[in-house]
Parts: sequence; C-alpha cells; structure tokens
Amino acid sequence: MRRTATLFSHFTFPRNYSIIILMEKLVLTADHGGYELKEIIKHFIPTLGDYEIIDLGTNSAESVDYPEYGKLAAKAVAKGQANRGIIFCGTGTGMAISANKTKGIRAANCTSVIMAEMSRRHNDANILALGGRIVDTDLAKTIVQTWLTTPFDGGRHERRVKQIG
Ligand code: RB5
Repeated sequence: MRRTATLFSHFTFPRNYSIIILMEKLVLTADHGGYELKEIIKHFIPTLGDYEIIDLGTNSAESVDYPEYGKLAAKAVAKGQANRGIIFCGTGTGMAISANKTKGIRAANCTSVIMAEMSRRHNDANILALGGRIVDTDLAKTIVQTWLTTPFDGGRHERRVKQIG
C-alpha cells in the first residue's frame, strides 16, 4: 500500500490554483544497539510509499549514548522538522524513555503488531521505538508498516491524549 501524508510543499500556480504535494517526513535515530535495524528499516520504508527520511545517526556500530539520539529525534518531531520518528536501541526502552522527556512527544516502544496498531489508534504515538536485540527483522518491518499506516482514532482518545500534556 502506498500512502503519503502531511503537508510537504505548497506550490502556487497562475489563476490562483494551487497544488499541495504530500510527503511525510520521518526522522530516524539509533544507538549502536539499534544501528543495524535502523539501516534495514531505512531501506524498507521507501517500499511502503513516498516518505522523506531524515537519518540523524548513529552511523556505525561503535558505542554511543542512547539519550543523545532519543532526544535528537524527539526535538526534530517537537519542532516540526519531522512529522514522526522511528528510534532504535538494543531494547527500545532507553530511546523511548529519552524521547518522552520532550514535551509533545508520545514515544511507544512496540514489540508486537498490536502494540504498534494501538499506539497509533489510541495514543496517537508520534515516535515508534524498536529494540534491535528484541524484534527480528520481519517483525520489525511489519510493526513499522502497521505503525506508519494506522491512523489515530480520535474521539474519546483525543481527550485522553490532551490530558497527557
Ligand atoms: C546499549 O548497550 C543498550 O543499553 C541500549 O541500546 C538500550 O537497550 C538501552 O535501553
């Protein structure tokens, strides 16, 4: 399924016609524990649709500190430089905890497809965290596809998400 979302560019044409091209920007970050899975998912995402990928590292398996990379992705989403993010570490936990320190970020560490689906439908998660040492490649791909293509249900969940602050 190909899917695009969110304003990317706004071109104005003569006679006051305008066309809006939609392409969702996704920020990816990882520490060394998630680096390998990040690379796999980075090459998988373009097979799902026209997403723009912003890869903020890390770019090798050399040891780095996950909070730096979790916060980098969170800031990019909070500032609107990316629409959503996918972050990777060994378990997904450290990256999710770090990202969730930024206001407006709802990072969900998902180890199953149902967690990914519900994190979008009920929690409007704007960051997906994955554990490179927890989920295998095929499961990670299905989680990512589900998470990217599942909309927020809104309704009563809108009220609850607002209460998170
Ligand atoms: C690094 O060894 C590991 O602690 C990190 O990738 C992550 O799993 C932390 O939550």
